[in-house]
Amino acid sequence: PRQIILDCDPGHDDAVAMMLALGNPTIELLGITTVGGNQTLEKVTRNAQSVLVMCGRDDVPVHPGSGRPLVRRIEVADDIHGESGLDGVDLPTPTRPAEDSHAVAFIIDTVLAAPTGTITLVATGPLTNLALAARLEPRIVERVREVVVMGGGYHVGNWTPVAEFNIWVDPEAAAIVFVETWPLTMVGLDVTHQALATAEVEEQVRATDSPLGEFFIGLMAFFRTTYREHQGFTDPPVHDACTIAYLIDPAIVQTRKVPLTVELRGEHTVGMTVADFRSPAAADCRHQVATHLDHAGFWGMVVEAITTLSAE
Ligand code: BDR
Ligand code: CA
Repeated sequence: PRQIILDCDPGHDDAVAMMLALGNPTIELLGITTVGGNQTLEKVTRNAQSVLVMCGRDDVPVHPGSGRPLVRRIEVADDIHGESGLDGVDLPTPTRPAEDSHAVAFIIDTVLAAPTGTITLVATGPLTNLALAARLEPRIVERVREVVVMGGGYHVGNWTPVAEFNIWVDPEAAAIVFVETWPLTMVGLDVTHQALATAEVEEQVRATDSPLGEFFIGLMAFFRTTYREHQGFTDPPVHDACTIAYLIDPAIVQTRKVPLTVELRGEHTVGMTVADFRSPAAADCRHQVATHLDHAGFWGMVVEAITTLSAE
């Protein structure tokens, strides 16, 4: 299986990314690292632990990371994810404490201990931990297999007209992660806005007749309300799970090579991910962006993962 570390800030869609990573046999989740984003570090760390309990997988370690961005003040998304960061469900009490060792240390130790080209870093929150890891131990950059980021977009933003939330919260960290020489796949809003949890999807999940399925439905009910109110959506887009789907089956999340940069100075464009589509990408281009999502294929995977976790 593909060995990954998931760096996240759960977050309704982060929780679904966790379910997919834990419930699909082609992915081995080595650990979860957390970062302040959707809510404070304390809250998202506890949320990650609760989701592991719901999935029956508290064998996976949770390493808390950075509570604030490199330069800017933290901005949480309570409008979208609520006071807890995972509003809409009862969160079970963690059954295992969070680890003492910091997220950044865990990322570095794991990558250095594994053979070169084996560990994939998946980030579904602000990029603070990944940026710190790359700066603290530059050797990891040559050793990771790939970095997959939910963030940005080549056409639209959501927090500003052109900036997506994860990039907007810590654009300096994003700039570091995008400028490093590791292969990077940006799974941005272009694709994640297609990952809508429709009524039909909910019916499929309800048919699993499981506590985890009910948990998913509770999460999506809250997420739908806030996405209707604040983003003008009918159904909520489950952004973060698209990163895992891409790793499981690149036919479900198609990509295209294109050089990317993060805007740090524009008066109206801070946090924008700029994609240069003017000519075919150079052969040594290390960046790619997700361009298409197979909606039915994607949700089929999620439902299967929930089924698998519920049977264990
Ligand atoms: C991203 O922002 C967060 O609110 C979500 O969890 C997702 O990672 C979408 O812009
Ligand atoms: Ca997230």
